[in-house]
Amino acid sequence: MHHHLLYRSLCACIFLFSRAILGAAAAAQIPLSLAAATGSLDAWLAIETPFALNGIFENTGDGSRQDGVDEGIVIASPSKEDPDYFYTWTRDSALVFKCLVDTFIAASDDDSGDGDESVLQTRIHQYISSQAYLQTVWNPSGGWWNGAGLGEPKFQVNSTPFVGSWGRPQADGPGLRAVTMMAYARWLIANGYESTAERIVWPVIQNDLSFVAAHWNSSGFADLWEEVQGLSFFTTLVQHRALVEGRDLAVELGLECAYCESQAPQVRCLLQTYWTGSYMDSHPGSGRAGKDASTILASIYGFDPDGGCDDITFQPCSARALANHKAVTDSFRLIYPINAGLQAGKSVAIGRYAEDVYHGGHPWYLTTFAAAEQLYDAIYQWHNRGSIDISDVSLGFFKDIYSRAAVGTYAASGETFWAIVAAVREYADGYLSVAQKYTPDSGELAEQFSRQNGIPLSANNLTWSYAALLTAAARRRSIVPPSWSEWCSTDVPETCLPTFAIGSYKAASITSWPPALTSKGGSEILPPACIPTTPEPSPTTPCTTPPTSVTVTFNEIATTEWGEVIFIVGSIPQLGSWKPTDAITLSAYRYTGSNHLWYQTINLPSGASFEYKYLRKKRDGAIVWEGGPNRAYTVPKQCGLSRVMRNDDHWR
Ligand code: NOJ
Ligand code: NOJ
Repeated sequence: MHHHLLYRSLCACIFLFSRAILGAAAAAQIPLSLAAATGSLDAWLAIETPFALNGIFENTGDGSRQDGVDEGIVIASPSKEDPDYFYTWTRDSALVFKCLVDTFIAASDDDSGDGDESVLQTRIHQYISSQAYLQTVWNPSGGWWNGAGLGEPKFQVNSTPFVGSWGRPQADGPGLRAVTMMAYARWLIANGYESTAERIVWPVIQNDLSFVAAHWNSSGFADLWEEVQGLSFFTTLVQHRALVEGRDLAVELGLECAYCESQAPQVRCLLQTYWTGSYMDSHPGSGRAGKDASTILASIYGFDPDGGCDDITFQPCSARALANHKAVTDSFRLIYPINAGLQAGKSVAIGRYAEDVYHGGHPWYLTTFAAAEQLYDAIYQWHNRGSIDISDVSLGFFKDIYSRAAVGTYAASGETFWAIVAAVREYADGYLSVAQKYTPDSGELAEQFSRQNGIPLSANNLTWSYAALLTAAARRRSIVPPSWSEWCSTDVPETCLPTFAIGSYKAASITSWPPALTSKGGSEILPPACIPTTPEPSPTTPCTTPPTSVTVTFNEIATTEWGEVIFIVGSIPQLGSWKPTDAITLSAYRYTGSNHLWYQTINLPSGASFEYKYLRKKRDGAIVWEGGPNRAYTVPKQCGLSRVMRNDDHWR
């Protein structure tokens, strides 16, 4: 049982965490205690996380390496034989830099201004520049002018093509890379650097999005494990997210991505077809069972901290993704001697898939970390929603770890909610502890560890293993990436069409970055709410009818304790007609140590006048109304005005 799950009020630690790993990695040598592997999980993570960040830095070119690795280029591993991983994979690099961009964003949220994060920012710029160049490098998959070359999976570390035989093209790289760059572009916009986002980053993103729109449904290797031809759940989910974010980012920049817009719903349609009824078939038609840890990787990749437990996007807390977690983890219980005797509901070592024989087909660190991460994500989402749903589909997952589980909805005001959260957290921690147990005292994370005795195997210092440790450890502390408004993309077309769209490609070489792109006070990366698909009338076309409804964001500053939730309730039906049971939950997603913000965006009728108040639900379920007279507000009814951000209210 972990009493430090200080979910709502722990945010100060979030930033301390980011700062601590940054600061520690800056010190050249990190001594690792010999007791690391036997100490508590907290103690181990405290030393392993800065070590992992340092491991990523060591595997990335920054101009100081002497071995031909270009600036911004990530090597998969320093291993030069058996296996030779001294190359740069688009996939690994994008996943590693997604972790670094998210770490940077969390660190820049802290306005102590001591500038540690500029180290990360420089790396991010180097990464984006290196990818802009790689996009233009002719390679065995083709050239950049029609996008074919973007499907090339790996390059030499000096940014020249790899011409040996390989499974190519591979379809996941461009989508992964686009999402990484879009996360940084969003930070730029939120901090007032919109023109940098538009001029420098967007053209590179656009090439990758064009590739996705054209190739999401075509043959080749969609398999992230580089083995089987045909579609893969992981890649389809990545591509869906890339197109949705691409559309939203384009709108934020005042541009448009018509091919993102047209293809995203179709990709979402395809995504549904992987669901078997009890798990996601990772590689339909491959002849395997399709229980594969890549489906867990997919679910955490699509994690939206503000999202619902939506099955459509396979959110970590969705019934489908939880059932799948069980199906996948159970498939590794009987095949690895080191998992012997560990029944369903006990944390075990996880590999890629049961039939795997690559380098012995042992468990992998990154998939074992991912099994933990999905559960931390789910816990975050349950807190955010204030309830846990157990359905027929997810019941098996819950029963394994909480034997009294039954179908139903469990609100955060009841004891069951907290009992389930504690059980899931313990289960998640268990996966990290398994990886801890099989991590050598040096702290080094290889690709695999032996199914017989847990010793590290295959590539050493795998960059992706380090990133996987960092993201799992961050989620464990409720440090989450920005939202991508997944709930705006949960409608599925009635019939799926095997379409594609032609985007545009241009060589987007980056010659220099503007200096001093510093954080402008607490990077508020606003989830782009649901951006209307029909553009708002531009100022030049006179508006004649005001919108019928307006999305209004309420912001309430309220200091809360662990387990408390703030609600808004008011005199109109949209605000629950003064009934506390129908009050609307506010989100603590942006609550920090220095800004006790609860907020929510609500769709209200234009012109409506009403009264309202905030409520606090204590951990024991008791409801406390704020004092003072009712608050009053009238929703604007104005041409062209469809989104309103209210000034801060203060709890009284
Ligand atoms: C290299 C790939 O990286 C790996 O995933 C695969 O299993 C082997 N080739 C065997 O095909
Ligand atoms: C093999 C993995 O299967 C693949 O996903 C990865 O990109 C390469 N190794 C490089 O780490």
